[in-house]
Amino acid sequence: MSDPAADALASRPGLPVEFRWLLEEFPRDRWSGKLDETAAFWLQMHASFRGHQAHMDGLVGQWRASGDAQALHRQLIPALQSFLQHLDGHHRVESGQYFPMMRRIEPKIAAGIDLLDRDHDAIHESLEALFQGGMAFHQAVTANAPDIVDKANRLSDLLDAGARPLLRHLEDEEDIVIPLFQLRDIHD
Ligand SMILES: [Fe+2]
Ligand SMILES: [Fe+2]
Repeated sequence: MSDPAADALASRPGLPVEFRWLLEEFPRDRWSGKLDETAAFWLQMHASFRGHQAHMDGLVGQWRASGDAQALHRQLIPALQSFLQHLDGHHRVESGQYFPMMRRIEPKIAAGIDLLDRDHDAIHESLEALFQGGMAFHQAVTANAPDIVDKANRLSDLLDAGARPLLRHLEDEEDIVIPLFQLRDIHD
């Protein structure tokens, strides 16, 4: 089930050099000062996705230590649902509203925005797989099926596989978007 776009995102070492000029205009060490309001909100959203991923990784770790699949089910399924819903909503707003606006305001970065849009497509595939994996685990637990542990393992593998591409995307997107908000007037 290897997806070349997801593999490329997972192994990308950072934002490609040709899209880093905005970051050079407004480097990360200046992000701690007073930020544009939308830029600050964007960073907050990304921090919450990182926190959410870490929380779910932690729940899987607790399950590996305790073997308590019921506890994993009770805590992970609602956490996963909320993660999937929020991340999907975030990507829709970015790809549907912000990215087209950014392409208009700063056409020179359009290819960088295209890269971020392709990341969304790749991540969407992994969200879909996570949704299916979550359902399968949920159904196994509610039916008290014999393969609960297999389904939990499968879900844990999917969470693992999705983490790196997501974290890569969040960081690379920030490297384009935060300087854009800060340096260009991209508000309506
Ligand atoms: Fe994004
Ligand atoms: Fe984002």
